Amino acid sequence: MAESTTESGLPFKAVYGPADLDGFDPGSALGEPGSYPYTRGVYPSMYTGRPWTMRQYAGFGTAAESNARYRELVANGTGGLSVAFDLPTQMGYDSDHTLASGEVGKVGVAIDSIDDMALLFDGLPLDEVSTSMTINAPASTLLLMYQLVAEGNNIPAAKLTGTIQNDVLKEYIARGTYIYPPAESLRLISNIFAYCQAEIPRWNTISISGYHMAEAGATPAQEIAFTLANAKSYVQAAVEAGLHVDDFAPRLSFFFVARTTLLEEVAKFRAARRIWARMMKEEFGARNPKSMMLRFHTQTAGVQLTAQQPEVNMVRVAVQGLAAVLGGTQSLHTNSFDEAIALPSAKAARLALRTQQVLAYETDVTKTVDPFAGSYVVESLTDDVQGAAEALIAAVDDRGGAVHAIEEGFQKSEIERSAYENAQQIDTGERVVVGQNRYTIDEHEHYEPLRVDPAIEAQQGQRLETLRRERDNAEVERRLDEMRAAAQGSDNVLYPMREALRARATGGEVADALREVWGSYVPRETF
Ligand code: 3HC
Repeated sequence: MAESTTESGLPFKAVYGPADLDGFDPGSALGEPGSYPYTRGVYPSMYTGRPWTMRQYAGFGTAAESNARYRELVANGTGGLSVAFDLPTQMGYDSDHTLASGEVGKVGVAIDSIDDMALLFDGLPLDEVSTSMTINAPASTLLLMYQLVAEGNNIPAAKLTGTIQNDVLKEYIARGTYIYPPAESLRLISNIFAYCQAEIPRWNTISISGYHMAEAGATPAQEIAFTLANAKSYVQAAVEAGLHVDDFAPRLSFFFVARTTLLEEVAKFRAARRIWARMMKEEFGARNPKSMMLRFHTQTAGVQLTAQQPEVNMVRVAVQGLAAVLGGTQSLHTNSFDEAIALPSAKAARLALRTQQVLAYETDVTKTVDPFAGSYVVESLTDDVQGAAEALIAAVDDRGGAVHAIEEGFQKSEIERSAYENAQQIDTGERVVVGQNRYTIDEHEHYEPLRVDPAIEAQQGQRLETLRRERDNAEVERRLDEMRAAAQGSDNVLYPMREALRARATGGEVADALREVWGSYVPRETF
C-alpha cells in the first residue's frame, strides 16, 4: 500500500496493526497518567480534573489599550493573561531610543517603566490570574516590574503565578530578540531561577520554546529535539551555578506549536514528555517527580494560516487546537483567523477563544485522559518521533551542547533546510495549502485590519520625559551602579535591579547598564 512520510520525514504507513506494537510494554513506555515517564500526561486526572488554561496572547499600542483588551478577554472567559511586548521592549530599548522608531507599540505593548506596567495591569486581579509574559533577554526587568506593581497593590510576591519566556537560546536560533552573549545570558537566567526560588516560588521561571523554531521551519522532531537540547543547557548552567536540580526544575516550563497534522503532533507531545522525564531522572539525577514533568503551553501554527480566504483559517485553528488538547497541553493559545493579515481584531480574538471553549465544553475529549493511548498509529509515531528527536539531541551533544552548536550554526542550518523543502513542496503543489495553491478563488475580499495609532510613539516619549524629570535621578544612578557591580561580580543582579526599577529606572537604562558590563551578542557569520 502507498507509503507516505510524516512532517518529520518518518515513514507513515497506510495501515498500522498489532505487529507495529510488538514488544510494546505500556507499563514502561507509558506509565499511568500523572506518573513517570508522563507519556500520557502530567496530571493523573488531566482535563477531567481541570481544563487547560485558555491563554490568549495579546498586546499592542499603549499599556492602557492593552489593558482594555485583557479586561475583555477576562470578561469572555480567558483563564490566564499572556502579554505581547513591542520589539523595543523586547530588545531593551526605551520607546524614545532611535532604534525604537516605527516599532513602538506595534507588535506588542510598549513598557518602559513600572508606571507603564501599573497601567497595563490596572484593575486586573494579579492574585487570581496567572500571567505569561513573552519576554526573553530583558525577562528579569519585566518580572521585577510585575512584582513591584503587585506589591503596590498589596499582593505579596509569594502569591504571584505566571511565566516569563526567558528562553534566550532559541532567540539565537530563531526570532532574534537576544541582547547579551550566551554565557552572560545563561548567568542571568540562573540568577532568575535563584531569585524566583527565594522570592516568587510559584512563578514559572522559563518557557523553553520550540514554537518559534517550528514557525521558522523546524519539523516536529527538530522542534522538540532543539528545545530539549536548549533545556539541557539551562539545567546544566543552573547546576554549575550551584543550584540543586530539584529546587528549580519543577518551575521550568515549555512552549510548543500545534500543526494541522494532528496525529504526528499528538505523538510529538507524548514523545517530548517521555524524553524529558528520562533525561531529568537519568542524566540530572532529579528525584522530585515535579522535576520530570514536562508542562507546556501550545500555540496553534501561525505559519500555516493563509491570507487567502482567511475564514478557512478557523478550520485550521480548530484542528490544531484539537491536536494540542489530545496531546495533553496545559495552556493553549488559538490563533485568530485574520492573523495572517494583521493584528487580530477583537471579534477574531473572541472567536479564537470560543474555539477553545467548544473543544473544552462541547466535545468529549476532556472526558478521558490521553485517548490515543494504545493506538497502533500514535504509539508507533510516538516511538518514531522520539527516536528521531533523540538522534538530533545526540548530534547537538556531539557538538558540545546547545551553545556550541548554536555558535556553529547547526540548529539554524537544519531548520533552514527543512523550511526550504517545505517551501518547495508548496511550490510544486505536493504539499496542498487550501486556498493558496489549490481550491483558490479570484476575488480578493477586502479586509480592514486593526491598525496601531502612530501617535503612540510621541505619547510614550512624553511619558518618559515626565518620568525622568520627576524621579530622583541620583538614586536611579546609584542603584544602577549597584547592579553594574553585581554584574561584574557574582552576586545575583536581580536584587539591585529591583531597587533600580523601584526608583523608576527604565527598561532601557537597565539593559544599557548590563550592555556596558557584558557587551552585546554579535552572531558569527555561518556559511
Ligand atoms: N490535576 C491537578 N492539578 C492540576 C490539574 C489537574 N488535572 N490541572 C492543573 N493543575 C494545577 C497545576 O498543578 C497548577 O498548580 P501549581 O501552580 O500550584 O503547580 C495549576 O493547577 C495551574 O495549572 P498549570 O500550571 O498546568 O497551568 P498554567 O496555565 O498555570 O501554566 C504552564 C501552564 C505551561 C506551566 C505555564 O508555564 C504557562 O502558562 N505558560 C504559558 C506561556 C505562554 O503563554 N507563552 C506565550 C508565547 S507567545 C510567543 O512566544 C510570541 C509569538 O511569537 C508566538
